[in-house]
Amino acid sequence: MIGIIGAMEEEVSLLIDAMEKKEKISFAGMDFYTGILKKKKVVIVKSGIGKVNMALCTQILIDKFGITHLINTGVAGGLYKDIEVGDIVISSDAVQHDMDATVFGYKLGEIPQMKVSVFPADEKLIQTAKNTCRRVNPDIQCFVGRVVSGDQFISSNEKKHQLIDEFGGYCAEMEGAAMAQAAYLNGIPFVILRAISDKADQKAAGSYEEFEKAAIKHIVRLVLGILDKE
Ligand code: ADE
Repeated sequence: MIGIIGAMEEEVSLLIDAMEKKEKISFAGMDFYTGILKKKKVVIVKSGIGKVNMALCTQILIDKFGITHLINTGVAGGLYKDIEVGDIVISSDAVQHDMDATVFGYKLGEIPQMKVSVFPADEKLIQTAKNTCRRVNPDIQCFVGRVVSGDQFISSNEKKHQLIDEFGGYCAEMEGAAMAQAAYLNGIPFVILRAISDKADQKAAGSYEEFEKAAIKHIVRLVLGILDKE
């Protein structure tokens, strides 16, 4: 059973519409849709925005549905210099950029008293996503790189460059690393797939509103392509 999580309605509705034998069950105010997509058993859910929603949602998926693989899909702000709006980032790993216990000597992003703070995505899922992306989205660029997550919409050059300099981030969003941490703690392989809706700079809010829908089309094509393969 594959769990697919998007933070927002727009990020999951096209996938939910494409499901067969669909059933809905709710926990913690979240609607979990079980059914078949591309002949695979899946659960698709909208988590809501931010790391807390995502962590809760991921744990429910694992506890209640016996998930074997986790995919987080959605949009993100581009950080890496060559990334354009509409391109896709596949997570190599994920870290929380707003975890800050630096006053005690920890590095920014380091979670106190945890052995791991940068959570690696599953190699096989990364490879499948990479190969599939080339096939189903030949007109855009597809990068494998670090996803940095925090409870902040990034919309300034200053913050953007801090995320690049401190973390080597490829894209910034608000949930991926929370799913990654929950997946890691439960030993579940995961990948984060994000289409770029903006460049996380001063123009990010306007760009996000203009390009979100187009970006989501690329990511939906990728998720369907991966399920076809897996
Ligand atoms: N999701 C899409 N664009 C984003 C940004 N600039 N910052 C955080 N999350 C995002």
